[in-house]
Amino acid sequence: MKIWVIEGEGGVDNLRQVERDVPKPGPGEILVRMKANAINYRDLSTIMNPAARGIAGPRIPNSDGAGIVEDVGAGVTAFKAGDRVVGTFFQDWPAGPIHAGVMPSALGGPIDGMLAEYVLLKEGGALPIPDHLSFAEAATLPCAGLTAWNCLFEAGKARAGQTVLLLGTGGVSIFAQQFAKMAGIRTILTSSSEEKLARAKTLGANDLVNYRQHPDWEKNVMNLTDGRGVDLVIEVGGAGTLEKSALSVRIGGRISLIGILSGGQIDPTVFMRKSITLKGVYVGPRDMFRAMNAALVNNDIHPVIDATVDFANAQEAYRMMEKATHFGKIVINI
Ligand SMILES: NC(=O)c1ccc[n+]([C@@H]2O[C@H](COP(=O)([O-])OP(=O)(O)OC[C@H]3O[C@@H](n4cnc5c(N)ncnc54)[C@H](OP(=O)(O)O)[C@@H]3O)[C@@H](O)[C@H]2O)c1
Repeated sequence: MKIWVIEGEGGVDNLRQVERDVPKPGPGEILVRMKANAINYRDLSTIMNPAARGIAGPRIPNSDGAGIVEDVGAGVTAFKAGDRVVGTFFQDWPAGPIHAGVMPSALGGPIDGMLAEYVLLKEGGALPIPDHLSFAEAATLPCAGLTAWNCLFEAGKARAGQTVLLLGTGGVSIFAQQFAKMAGIRTILTSSSEEKLARAKTLGANDLVNYRQHPDWEKNVMNLTDGRGVDLVIEVGGAGTLEKSALSVRIGGRISLIGILSGGQIDPTVFMRKSITLKGVYVGPRDMFRAMNAALVNNDIHPVIDATVDFANAQEAYRMMEKATHFGKIVINI
């Protein structure tokens, strides 16, 4: 089988396609013939600097992929050959709060990921693909989809009638826009691009702010909420946006913190003064993924795929993400 591996010091140019034997599923494992991967900013940053994540040797990148079960190992009862499946980001997080035992099981980080023609997953590290979704659509769910769900409803506790601030138009933010629309939550969405803002409007974004044209975008957010602030921010920006996010939140509001897109200095005073709850989020467990899938089915939601590249040209997907011209998700067809 063909696989892609991160080699040496990393970088998109150091991604190599190599051949390996197709693995055999051991007890409790399933062998999946991959049909699609979707990439996340985390996959790009892992490829660019594997050492920062403690990755030394060749490593298959990407947490997110979907395919068809080819074979199952001894004791597997949940899946059979021919089933359409999507992997879970963490192979060992069935349910409950995150704990240290979860961390070593992240695909495309501490263990090999999905950018391969065949992949072994744990039986408990996969879910059936909802019937209405293609392989490409299903591949977008494990990281970006589930993180958006967790940030909005679980960590963020958002509900109908509230207002949520979404930063940019990448994978997580666009999923969050779709889920917010589904749940009757008002959104204020920012972007560097007028064209992307117009696209977000078609997904139901209620208010739009161009953060390039309005570097003090927290003031726009306060004006749009009559001086009150939003109930929740899904913080994808990181240190470069966190303080402005805090200035955009209402007193007693929440921030779901996931991002590492930008750097900067933070003055923590505003978090105290506004009694803000800041909650770090790392994707989510399998039972939360199952609940999200039910919502996708019941609301006929399809993920937004902006661009698709072929497995042979996988490097192109990361180059696209580096340019940040995408809206929603970038997919690699296998
Ligand atoms: N902790 C977790 O579980 C978890 C899970 C998923 C993602 N993340 C993190 O969340 C972030 C987003 O991930 P993603 O995969 O959705 O990324 P992505 O698809 O690459 O999104 C990039 C987009 O973010 C926007 N952006 C970049 N810098 C910004 C800034 N300073 N202010 C506002 N928006 C900015 C831009 O939107 P415009 O082009 O519209 O301006 C850009 O196109 C990353 O930092 C990622 O590491 C964390």
